[in-house]
Amino acid sequence: MILIKLGGSVITDKSEYRKFNKETVSRLADEIKRSGKEVIIVHGAGSFGHVLAKQYAIQNGYANDEQIPVVAQIMQDTRALSGMVTEVLNGSGIPAVSVAPGSCFVLDGGKLIIDNEEPVRRLKELGIMPVMFGDVVPDRKTRFAIVSGDQVMEKLCEMYDPEKVIFVSDIDGLYDRDPKKDRKARMIGTVTKNKLDEIASDSSVADVTGGVKGKMESMLRMTTKDRPCVLVNGNAPERLYRLLKGETVTCTIAKGGME
Ligand code: IPE
Repeated sequence: MILIKLGGSVITDKSEYRKFNKETVSRLADEIKRSGKEVIIVHGAGSFGHVLAKQYAIQNGYANDEQIPVVAQIMQDTRALSGMVTEVLNGSGIPAVSVAPGSCFVLDGGKLIIDNEEPVRRLKELGIMPVMFGDVVPDRKTRFAIVSGDQVMEKLCEMYDPEKVIFVSDIDGLYDRDPKKDRKARMIGTVTKNKLDEIASDSSVADVTGGVKGKMESMLRMTTKDRPCVLVNGNAPERLYRLLKGETVTCTIAKGGME
């Protein structure tokens, strides 16, 4: 089984509140279906989550009562997005239903805990893909917190031990610095624990690599000796399809685990 995250930057327009990229999602669903692979899909929230979350500082947990209707609105927006994603998947011949992460996971001081995995397991056994997503989830300590699709991916790795993990994003791969701002930016083809240490200790790029380092760490955490984690551009037609078929494509591959 292959675990795939469709990033919010691909399935939505991140600059416009609640803008769904239906054509891109339809194309990606078709690429997944044609590959014939067994997958579980998680998706990000994009502009259905980040816009309001930023505006009301939802990521820091409860601060005031004004946030409560906003939290409800974000939960409604992420569910609306997820409904659109599963509608496309079902239309492409992939039986799928949206499952909010808060219905089987719970947060404890920002740490995601599998509370009840039975609903997800049962759906999967039935041949219906449970589609989870980045969302606001109740937290035992901070009342609520944001759970990213990446955190959900880590939990699903524990549950299903997938053969491969794929992050579908709007960039070709990870760069050592921002390619939009720096012409010297180079794409990192392979990420290993050693490479991570190298980047972290290179002070000349330290100030711009926080985001890259964080993403590398999270990708590496999902790798094992036999399980790679790949970052691929979903805006490039056929790239996901070819990756799923085992072909060599432009991407960043994390491998080898964190040891
Ligand atoms: C964010 O989830 C969830 C909310 C802001 C509510 P993700 O972090 O997985 O979303 P993307 O992929 O960055 O859009």
